[in-house]
Amino acid sequence: MYKIESLDHYARGICKIDGKITFIENTLKGEEVDIKIIKEKKNFNLGKVLNYIKKSNDRISPKCPYYDVCGGCNIMHTNYINELAFKEEKIKNIVSKYLSNGVKINEIVKCDNRFFYRNKVSFQVKENLGFYKTNSYELVNIDKCVIANEIINDSIKYLKKLDLKYVNKIICKVGLGELMVIIDADRVIDIDILKKCASSIYLKINDEYILLYGKKYIYEDLDGYKFAISPDSFFQTNINTCLKLYRKIKDYIKDNKNILDLYCGTGSIGIFISGNNSVKGVEINKSSILDAIYNKKLNKIKNIDFICGDSGKNMLKFKDNFDVIIVDPPRNGLNNETLNNILKLNPKEIIYVSCEPMTMVRDLNVLSENYKVCEITPFDMFPNTYHIECLTYLVKM
Ligand SMILES: C[S@@+](CC[C@H](N)C(=O)[O-])C[C@H]1O[C@@H](n2cnc3c(N)ncnc32)[C@H](O)[C@@H]1O
Repeated sequence: MYKIESLDHYARGICKIDGKITFIENTLKGEEVDIKIIKEKKNFNLGKVLNYIKKSNDRISPKCPYYDVCGGCNIMHTNYINELAFKEEKIKNIVSKYLSNGVKINEIVKCDNRFFYRNKVSFQVKENLGFYKTNSYELVNIDKCVIANEIINDSIKYLKKLDLKYVNKIICKVGLGELMVIIDADRVIDIDILKKCASSIYLKINDEYILLYGKKYIYEDLDGYKFAISPDSFFQTNINTCLKLYRKIKDYIKDNKNILDLYCGTGSIGIFISGNNSVKGVEINKSSILDAIYNKKLNKIKNIDFICGDSGKNMLKFKDNFDVIIVDPPRNGLNNETLNNILKLNPKEIIYVSCEPMTMVRDLNVLSENYKVCEITPFDMFPNTYHIECLTYLVKM
């Protein structure tokens, strides 16, 4: 029998067996369990619960019928208050371990809907449709996903009627009640059945997106700003929490500022905060930048311009003196060129949006040579998973 001492960053329980750390999924702090070792590594083991001897009061029955086998969610076996506590603790641990002390960490901003929040889902296809098991390419065949938007769930019965033999993946995106289906396949297949549920159907073949049916875009609305989204463009997957994040970014920015929005996607942050400010955006993905230019027109905004290209390589092309630089990079964070160029541009404030706290603290350490890291606010953008979005506000010292 082993007692779970704490949870690691991936929400796995930690216990020590003969001094060796063992990670065990689907456990909670304080629980006592019988386990079997399923993988032995040099420095750690992976274990699986055989029997719960003492369960935590925070344990609940997971809403998802596939939770034990599907690799998508990791912390659905506890109540939401405890999930949020895990996430706050995780950020505090990372910051205290890797960043100098004294940084204020705000309470995590919760999501109002723990379930059915995801507006984008990538289904794996192997003759059937579902998700992969953790660390495996074995398909878990599913009929519903309790974190996906209801419209995506309603479409699954139609997706399963497609001839899936030549299909590799199906991506569903929802915006303002409309469904876009992107079929990643080796050849054209009959998609007629999907006209019952989708407003837009694309075929992705040889990295090209071909509109087979319906509208070019789906749309999203954030506080009255409208955003067109193409199949290959990034958009935040949880609109409820995204809105809270964008409002907090807006709160940091006073009027009449010159702002650089790096990794700007479809221009969503830049347009949302444009007001009386002047904004320049940089984004590497062509489809996203075309959407950003279209979204500028859609919202009748004049004081924003975009460049398509790598952030680090393009950010010095503007002739502006930026008051504020916003960065929202992918999980790998900022590279040296981008960090050096931010320091060269020497803005008064930096707003760092991150979906990976480990790379965020690595980059904050570099920026903190010239900037005070004033506060970090975690946002629950990805309920039921161990992932956390963070917003950090830095001011020049
Ligand atoms: C987390 S998303 C943020 C998008 C946007 N800020 C938003 O809130 O929707 C990161 C974006 O960075 C873009 N990206 C990735 N690498 C990049 C690079 N080297 N330079 C510029 N943009 C990049 C991706 O295409 C993606 O749109």
